[in-house]
Amino acid sequence: MSSPSEDQGLGFSDGTTLAEVLGLLAEGAQDEEPVAGWTHNFYRYPARFSPTFVAAAIEHFSSPGQIVLDPYMGGGTVIVESLVRGRKVVGNDLNSLATFITKVKTTPLDDGEIRAAQRWADRLVPKFTYRTKRRGIAAYLDAQGTRNLTLPRARFVKKAIGVALRTIDHLPTRNAQDFARCAVLRVGQWALDGRGQHTPLKDFRKKLQATTHEMLEALISFSKHVKLQGGSAIILNHDASTLDQLSCLGDAKSRPSLVLTSPPYPGVHVLYHRWQVDGRHETPAPYWIAGCVDGQGEAYYTFGCRKQSAADSYFFKSLRTLKAIRRVIRDDGYMIQMVAFNKPEEQLPRYLENMRVAGFVEVRVGALNASSNEARIWRRVPRRKWHAELKGNTNGANEVVLVHRPS
Ligand SMILES: C[S@@+](CC[C@H](N)C(=O)[O-])C[C@H]1O[C@@H](n2cnc3c(N)ncnc32)[C@H](O)[C@@H]1O
Repeated sequence: MSSPSEDQGLGFSDGTTLAEVLGLLAEGAQDEEPVAGWTHNFYRYPARFSPTFVAAAIEHFSSPGQIVLDPYMGGGTVIVESLVRGRKVVGNDLNSLATFITKVKTTPLDDGEIRAAQRWADRLVPKFTYRTKRRGIAAYLDAQGTRNLTLPRARFVKKAIGVALRTIDHLPTRNAQDFARCAVLRVGQWALDGRGQHTPLKDFRKKLQATTHEMLEALISFSKHVKLQGGSAIILNHDASTLDQLSCLGDAKSRPSLVLTSPPYPGVHVLYHRWQVDGRHETPAPYWIAGCVDGQGEAYYTFGCRKQSAADSYFFKSLRTLKAIRRVIRDDGYMIQMVAFNKPEEQLPRYLENMRVAGFVEVRVGALNASSNEARIWRRVPRRKWHAELKGNTNGANEVVLVHRPS
């Protein structure tokens, strides 16, 4: 394991050079395997990180017991991978859905809660029926949250989810209820988001039962491992530009030595907050199922603003958050980001200028691999369903890894 203390700015205390470590990071960044392992598949958060890349960055740029921060954590890949490596991790996102998912992925259940979730999956889920009177589930069919679920393919799934949400209320604790909600969320995503076919009730029930058991197994093994390694997490739901005002990051001892993150992407529209039914009708159903507040439209989650040009708004808001990150990161820390651009030649220089103004200097070491003179790690995005791609614009699929240190 490398310690992050550099030797004359070129190497690590265990003898590894910075170039070698960046090479390992590059290998991780090229990972094209579907996301898997631990609790990662509790939900398919859009534009999520490769756990292999995240693991490489955590292992080489931090040590057990040190603090890792992901200010835009999304589905919590960094949080999960930090916990199993015994790091103290702070995860933040202004999307309440991201906070919900990451909490469920990282909150252990006790034996009673596990048994209650198993009973729910084995006894109640197989009995879900459409014969449940509408009146009986009316309170669970929030009109706003179920928008666009009247479409033919979605109507019955909506009813099945309404029935599921009613049964969840009988689980004994908030943690057990949130866990079951997350199982419904995952199966709801499978049944509704971009699925071009009708889902019969029997398939929905079968999938929900199997998914709940898989998730329980994953959570039990994850929790045991985290306990053994001594990892701990704080999960927050704030605008990242206010991070420096939070007491958990405020004093010298709680400053992160590694900020590992992927921010919203300039010019690339990712639907963090909607599912698409029948290919194009957007629904806020994930918030309805998770019981979270969905305050805002797409601009809210992507550094956008209706009153400003998209690019100006993006770089203005991005700079505010980068300055807040600079105020909390340790002076000897690292910031590693994966950022995607749809016009890298215009946007990358602006992004790097923001980093400089915020108080960071880029770390680059010669050419990282023999086949390229490019001293940054680039990759084409594998298997991602992005809004931009659905609109026929595939330029957004270029990602770069940026390594910075406080200047
Ligand atoms: C590219 S995603 C992160 C995905 C994450 N790396 C994962 O593995 O799932 C970017 C995230 O930034 C969040 N975000 C956007 N603006 C934000 C802000 N001002 N403060 C905090 N989070 C923000 C979005 O809600 C979204 O979840």
